[in-house]
Amino acid sequence: MGLSDKLHDLILNFNNIYGHKVMSTKEFNLDLLANEYNNRSPAAVIKLAFEEFKNVAISFSGAEDVILIDLAIKINPNVKVFSLDTGRLHAETYRFIEQVRTHYNIQLELLSPDTIALQDLVRSKGLYSFYKDGHKECCNIRKVVPLRRRLSSLDAWITGQRKDQSPSTRNMVTVIEKDAAFSNKDKTIYKFNPLANWTSADVWEYISSNKIPFNTLHEQGYSSIGCEPCTRPVLPNQHEREGRWWWEESTQKECGLHPPDNK
Ligand code: ADX
Ligand code: SF4
Repeated sequence: MGLSDKLHDLILNFNNIYGHKVMSTKEFNLDLLANEYNNRSPAAVIKLAFEEFKNVAISFSGAEDVILIDLAIKINPNVKVFSLDTGRLHAETYRFIEQVRTHYNIQLELLSPDTIALQDLVRSKGLYSFYKDGHKECCNIRKVVPLRRRLSSLDAWITGQRKDQSPSTRNMVTVIEKDAAFSNKDKTIYKFNPLANWTSADVWEYISSNKIPFNTLHEQGYSSIGCEPCTRPVLPNQHEREGRWWWEESTQKECGLHPPDNK
């Protein structure tokens, strides 16, 4: 154990003994910890998030990122979990979200889009404007704005992003990063991606060996799961994100939650 590890453990022990946090968001040493935790297990990364930040929540998409909840609940039974309810998820996903809520007995917060902005979009462009002029506008209203609102009361969020999800947009994902897209001059938001270095095979090995619930769409050929009109099953030889916004170019397949140039 190096000097920095020892110092880190000392501070955490102090926190435990005296029952309050010593480290604040300002003191979070991103470079040091990102490097140190790069090869640590997802459970260790989640534990770190809870130790370092009081206001941290899991962002659960209703797909295979259920693993995050399964791991986190063992460390912190009161873990906060939210899902962005775009209003356009598959029926299977809504059922799965409900299944997860009852299976883990958690308070799962569903975040809705702003009604006025949504009504304006649908009134002016209809329900499927994204097929004509791209998904950004609809994703912004249904996902990005509600996320920004939720993050304003958090210090950090935990996501299920993995490098292997996309060679063009996710290959640089690290286990801990500063979320430049949602930070502002007054507040830094950190993003924990405990599964960053896991492959899809690792994820499914975990799900099957721990017998945890999964979205039944995965049994119908769906790999990466988003909104119903913008997700379709993939063939065995296709990459998982080819089923997302399939009418758009691969470098554009991000909805604004995880901009690829997020430094
Ligand atoms: S997306 O940006 O293309 O939609 P993706 O489906 O790959 O993201 O999921 C990556 C991670 O983003 C998920 O593991 C989850 O943490 C978060 N995420 C994506 N969609 C949602 C959602 N609807 N609600 C909450 N979190 C989400
Ligand atoms: Fe809208 Fe499709 Fe984005 Fe969902 S994925 S918010 S339906 S554009």
